[in-house]
Amino acid sequence: MDVACGNGNFARRLAARGARVVGFDFAEGMIERARAYPQVPEGAIEYAVVDTTDADTLDGLAGKPFDAAVANMALMDIVDIGPLLEFLAQNLRPGGRFVFSVSHPLTGTAQSPLRERAEDGGGEALEEPVFPEDPSLAGGDGGWADHFREFPPALVVRLRRPAVGAGG
Ligand SMILES: C[S@@+](CC[C@H](N)C(=O)[O-])C[C@H]1O[C@@H](n2cnc3c(N)ncnc32)[C@H](O)[C@@H]1O
Repeated sequence: MDVACGNGNFARRLAARGARVVGFDFAEGMIERARAYPQVPEGAIEYAVVDTTDADTLDGLAGKPFDAAVANMALMDIVDIGPLLEFLAQNLRPGGRFVFSVSHPLTGTAQSPLRERAEDGGGEALEEPVFPEDPSLAGGDGGWADHFREFPPALVVRLRRPAVGAGG
C-alpha cells in the first residue's frame, strides 16, 4: 500500500520491483496523474481516491491484507493519522511492515526548530534532545543555524506488526 501516493512516483518504483500496489491519495488530480503514467508491469497498481482521515472510506481498501505499507513524505501533511494507524493495525498481515518518511521533526516543521518534542500516547514517544542553553551560541542572523549545520532533513521509520504468536 502506498499511502498518500501523490502522482504514484513511489508506487511505480515498487511495481517495477515486483510488488502489486494499492496507491491512494485524497487529491483527485494527483490520482488522475498517477493513472496517466504507463504501468510496468501493466496492471500492477490499483489507484483510489481516499482521504486517510476518514475511517469509512479507508475501510473500502480493507480485506487484502497488505504485506507492507509505505507513506513517503506524507504523514506530516495529514491532519489526523489515527484512522490510518488503526487501519494498518487491522490490515497489515502479521509481520507486515509500515515504513514512513517525514520531514525531520527537529528542523522540518513550521514551528520553532530545535525544540524538544515528545508525543506520548499508549506508551509510544518520540523525543529529540534540545541543545543545552548557551547564550553564546544563540547569536548571529541565522541563530542556531550559524553554529550547527548537520541537521537531518528527514526521519525514516520502519515499523513491523508483530508476527502471530509474538504478542499481537
Ligand atoms: C508531499 S506529497 C508526497 C506524495 C508521494 N507520497 C510522493 O512521495 O511523491 C504529500 C501527499 O499527501 C497527500 N495527502 C495529504 N493529506 C491527505 C489525506 N488526508 N488523505 C490522503 N492523502 C493526503 C497529498 O495530496 C499529497 O499528494
